[in-house]
Formats: sequence, C-alpha cells, structure tokens
Amino acid sequence: MSGLRVPVVEVRLDRRSWRDHLAGLTAAGLRDDPPWIPPVWFYDRYGSELFERITRLAEYYPTRCERSILAAHAGRIAEVTGAETLVELGSGTSEKTTLLLDALAERGTLRQVVPFDVSEEVLRAAADELAARYPDALVHAVAGDYHEHLDRLPATGSCLLAFLGSTIGNLTPTERSGFLDAVTGVLGHEDWFLLGTDLVKDPERLVAAYDDPGGVTAEFNLNALRVLQRELGADLEPADWQHRAVYDESEERIEMHLVATGATHIRIGHLGVDRTLRAGAWIRTEISTKFRTDALHAELEAAGLGVVGSWTDEAGDFLLTLAQPRGTSAS
Ligand code: SAH
Ligand code: AVI
Repeated sequence: MSGLRVPVVEVRLDRRSWRDHLAGLTAAGLRDDPPWIPPVWFYDRYGSELFERITRLAEYYPTRCERSILAAHAGRIAEVTGAETLVELGSGTSEKTTLLLDALAERGTLRQVVPFDVSEEVLRAAADELAARYPDALVHAVAGDYHEHLDRLPATGSCLLAFLGSTIGNLTPTERSGFLDAVTGVLGHEDWFLLGTDLVKDPERLVAAYDDPGGVTAEFNLNALRVLQRELGADLEPADWQHRAVYDESEERIEMHLVATGATHIRIGHLGVDRTLRAGAWIRTEISTKFRTDALHAELEAAGLGVVGSWTDEAGDFLLTLAQPRGTSAS
C-alpha cells in the first residue's frame, strides 16, 4: 500500500563544532601562500541556487552529459545492483538521481532514499520532493559533511552509494584518497559505489565551462566572500575582487580564483587572520579536477573498489563508474 510518507531529516552536523572546524580550516588557508578557502562556503542558499543556474548554462556540459549517461544506463545499473537503498552524497536537488531511482523503483527493489548534503535547506526541499515522487520508499535525508559523517549511514538491504556531478573533483588528491578509503570502509559486500567524473578535454572548453559570459559562475565564486563575511565576520571588500578560471595543465584541473583588482585586505580578528593583498594577488576558491579513465579506475582499485562497469556520454566528455568493494563478485 502506498501513502505519502514524511521524510526523516537527520542532522549530523553539530553546527557549532562544524563551524569551528571550518573556521580553523579557512584561517589556515588564508594564511597560506597562495591563500585558499574550502569550497564548502559556496553552498549557502543563494550559492546553491547559483549552482543550479550553472548546471543549465550552455557552456557547462557536465550535468547534461551525466544526465544522458544515466538516461541510457540507469536500467542496467538497477539490474546489476538490485539496490534497496540509494545514498547520494552531495545530493543538492537530486534532480538527475531520479533517473536512477525510477529505474530501481521500476525494478521493484527501491526501499529507501538517502540524500546527504551539507546544505540543509536544499536537502530538506529535495527530501520533500523525493518523498512525493517515491511514496513507497522511505526518504531519510542526512545533513552532514562527507569528509566527517560517512559512518552510520542509514541503509536497508543492499546499498548503492552515489557521488555524482564530478564533485569528487573538488577534493584535493589527499582528500580524495581519504574519501575513497572511507567509502570502501562503509560499504558492505553487497553494496555498490557509483561515481561521476568529468574527463580531461580541450582546455578552452574547460575554461569556458567555468567562466560563462553571463557571469553566473563569477557570481557563484564571489558569493563565497559574502558567506565569509556573514558566517565568520570577515572584514573584506567583495568589490575589490574578480572571478578567474584557469586550467592547470600539469595538475589537469580547473582552478577558480578570486583576484584582487587593487590593494585590499582580509581580516578575521578572532581567527588571527590579517592579510593585506596587493593588486593581482589571488585566493584559490575551488579546484575541479578532470580525470582520465585508466588512472581513475586505478585509484578506485587502490582504494579497494573493483570496477564493475563504466560508461561515457556519446562525446566521451564525462564518465560514470560503477564499483564494488573488491573480493565480491557481481551477479
Ligand atoms: N550532486 C549534484 C550537486 C553537485 S553541487 C549534482 O551533480 O548536480 C555539490 C553539492 O555538494 C552541493 O549540494 C553542496 O552543498 C554539497 N557539498 C559540498 N561540500 C560538501 C560536504 N563537505 N559534505 C556534504 N555535501 C557537500
Ligand atoms: C560541484 N562541482 C562538481 C562543480 C564543478 O564543476 O567543479 C562546482 C562548480 N564550480 C564552478 N562551476 C561549477
């Protein structure tokens, strides 16, 4: 029997200690040379809206490409995994994820949906939509940090843990290997990992995807400064900064910077941050790593995740990889 089930929203973030943790990280980043800030500051309510607008830009191909892969292969993924729980890390609106959920529901295995995101407002809205769309499944949303709260994930039966959108590309190599080890650690032998990654391609296309002519990405980048003002009481002047996206060929990653247009300062007294910056100085706000299939699969294998299948879109721009803790066999 179906009926509307109210979603459960579990808040794993202890707001105060999480803010202290982020404040410490940000202070360390702002003292570094070149300075950097953690990208999690992008995703307040306005930043999450801006990200949604980015996903619809003509230049920003990753979302469309990943959606097309899911549209073509969600049925196969549902068949291979037979997953009862779908957990999605960094879930945002979970819009593309409905392709997977529809396939699992159609196959009759779907029992639980677990959107997991640090941005609680977006998460709650997504949980309500998922509950309305999948009345036969329990929606158990988790407000958490995927660097901290991967333990105790709610799961009923076999679990498909999805990390879509190439959000893994926003992690540093050290964070990425720690993250993949943590994923292996939480998955049981009947569970699966589904990973979306953007692939290395023509640098001009990459830069265009992160520097759209309408300035939506610039606004997304600059919004991080306003979040620092609001959340950490930072004394800074947003008008002194401008957006820049560059492709680092040796690291094979886009970097988003904020570049000082004139002499300026950033002060956060209670964190001991007091920096004067000259014109042209920059802060790194995000890395977005681009991957090569073989190297990525080797990383997964090194983390104990055996690759079971992988798919790209027609143009070969984006990759979706299904993996399972090694030592288990796909049936
Ligand atoms: N998966 C979606 C959204 C990607 S945007 C897609 O493919 O379109 C990245 C998402 O990750 C945002 O919703 C942001 O709030 C979330 N996020 C960023 N850092 C996070 C963290 N440390 N822990 C959990 N979620 C995080
Ligand atoms: C969420 N993440 C994968 C996006 C990316 O492409 O790295 C964030 C983003 N930054 C600028 N545009 C989109």
